[in-house]
Amino acid sequence: MLASETDVPAVAEEGAVIFTFDGGAEVAERRMRVLPPNADLLWREKENRGWTRECQKSFEPLRCGRFRIRASWYRSSSQREKITFDPSLVFGSGHHGSTRGCVEALEKFDIDGKKVLDVGTGSGILAIAAAKMGALFYLCVTDEEALNAAVRNCAQNGIAPRKVWVSSVLRAEKSRDLIVANFIVSDVLIAIRDDLIRALKAKGSLILSGIMERFGRRIREAFSMREPFTVKRDGWLTIAYAKTQDIGGLPFKRALNTAKDESR
Ligand SMILES: C[S@@+](CC[C@H](N)C(=O)[O-])C[C@H]1O[C@@H](n2cnc3c(N)ncnc32)[C@H](O)[C@@H]1O
Repeated sequence: MLASETDVPAVAEEGAVIFTFDGGAEVAERRMRVLPPNADLLWREKENRGWTRECQKSFEPLRCGRFRIRASWYRSSSQREKITFDPSLVFGSGHHGSTRGCVEALEKFDIDGKKVLDVGTGSGILAIAAAKMGALFYLCVTDEEALNAAVRNCAQNGIAPRKVWVSSVLRAEKSRDLIVANFIVSDVLIAIRDDLIRALKAKGSLILSGIMERFGRRIREAFSMREPFTVKRDGWLTIAYAKTQDIGGLPFKRALNTAKDESR
């Protein structure tokens, strides 16, 4: 890429040189004169798109359960409770069906005052949602960048996790009322199955997500626990499990008939 009009492109004996510059046909014509007369020219005028705006548009505010999730640069007059976040390279803007499924599943539990662990937090949206439902929340993730982003987003929403760590559920105390784990890769959920269950209270509940529909069976075979309900969003399954076979576990708030895939 050439920085200014006076730059002369280095033209290879054979092969192609691509160079870009600001300006219309007149500038293009002047620039082409520096090329050898036998060069084949192919030039195209391109619209200079506002890439910042383009990128920001992919984070349009959206409804996620009872929340309105919005990137920090959006103002919102919505009456819905808000979750604000700063998009980064970290997963979890609420636009993904697995995240939305988790938020909706969290809403079905009465987690006020309960200990909730978000394993594999991304931008922290699940933990923030849990905190806004009154939970005492904990975060862990194997990726330090994700953890930092999640903690920053928690602060942005005026809340603070009880405890955070870079690693997986193995380091959790064994007394969580509810664990939510959304990984996108079902095999990872299966690999840490025993650690997840061990970290739950005797009557704790588990929300697993990031399960593509076709992997639902594998997850069910691996976990084989009581499954009070599932949520399906954009083809992603979120499955709720209760650790005990009896009707104990965390109380539910609503009817548990959520298997159908409701669009946004
Ligand atoms: C899909 S993203 C986060 C999604 C986020 N919880 C949400 O619902 O929007 C999954 C994250 O889990 C992390 N991860 C992968 N395996 C993990 C494991 N065994 N324990 C904890 N975190 C893990 C990844 O590094 C990634 O940051």
